[in-house]
Amino acid sequence: MLTGILAEEIARRGPISFHEFQHTALYHPEHGYYRRERDPFGARGDFYTAEQLQPVFGLLMARTVERLHERMPARFEVVELGAGREEMRSYFERWSYQAIESGRGQLPAEIHGLVFGNEFLDALPVHLVRKKGGHFHEVSVAGYEGKFQYVEGPCVKGKLAEYLAKHGQHAPDGGLVEAHLDAVQWLDRLSAAVKQGFVLFIDYGFTERERVRFPQGTLMSYWRHQADEDVLCKPGERDITSHVPFTMLIDEAKERGFLVERYESLAQLLLDAGEPDQFANVLESQNEQEAARRRGQLKTLLYGMGETFRVLLLSRGV
Ligand SMILES: C[S@@+](CC[C@H](N)C(=O)[O-])C[C@H]1O[C@@H](n2cnc3c(N)ncnc32)[C@H](O)[C@@H]1O
Repeated sequence: MLTGILAEEIARRGPISFHEFQHTALYHPEHGYYRRERDPFGARGDFYTAEQLQPVFGLLMARTVERLHERMPARFEVVELGAGREEMRSYFERWSYQAIESGRGQLPAEIHGLVFGNEFLDALPVHLVRKKGGHFHEVSVAGYEGKFQYVEGPCVKGKLAEYLAKHGQHAPDGGLVEAHLDAVQWLDRLSAAVKQGFVLFIDYGFTERERVRFPQGTLMSYWRHQADEDVLCKPGERDITSHVPFTMLIDEAKERGFLVERYESLAQLLLDAGEPDQFANVLESQNEQEAARRRGQLKTLLYGMGETFRVLLLSRGV
């Protein structure tokens, strides 16, 4: 359905930016991947997130939030960005919890407490750019005989050019780079809203030093638990994600007056949360089958996801 809509749009206006393509593919109000009836998460969907590993993930994150709450006991609320199936609700409900989803809910004007986002940033649409001879050219999407393909445009201008001058210098020549202008916009919103408290992002990503691992960018599509580098195929039916550039996020957050409290693996954060009682609380169950299930979840969180996922904890005024 979206293939037709996008092809018509391209026929009418000419090539569209990759950002517009990804935004339509994921968030078209009727046919966007995250707006359709079909549930993208879990065994019958296309991918798992840490939030599907309950109760272990929820209990350990709640313990982490308790510690943050202890540092500002007066007023403390939790806002979750990109809450998906709202799997964290029952673990965060003891604080005033607000879930924000694409097309549902709004960022409060004032926040005292925590903004939490698990795999939120990787789902934001990005601009795609090719670096050639030290110059950046925006990559757009054209349609040709029923297939979408990339076309390169002139040198970038405006906000995109400013972003790349700051954050694209280490990109390899000839390579593809994603520009995360939407993530920067979210930092602006959070900077205006968070009066006192924390921002905790969990996601897969890389630092500037690790960029060499991704000379052709990090865009990937997911369908039925299979990853595919072709992100132009079947828009609306597959997830499209990119890795989060954490160095950029850290630099931009600091510029907005946030303090970087932690940048580490998810495993480290979960180990800190579970260490005081050796994970007894999260593993405890009367039922041996359930206890074994929980041990499996902890193992996946610590040794599977825990090593690839990163945590960025920002604070302000605490
Ligand atoms: C990969 S999913 C993660 C969902 C959930 N946090 C989890 O870990 O299972 C990303 C989520 O972010 C949401 N999202 C993307 N852009 C958004 C926006 N601008 N505002 C609110 N939610 C958004 C998507 O709809 C999607 O549910």
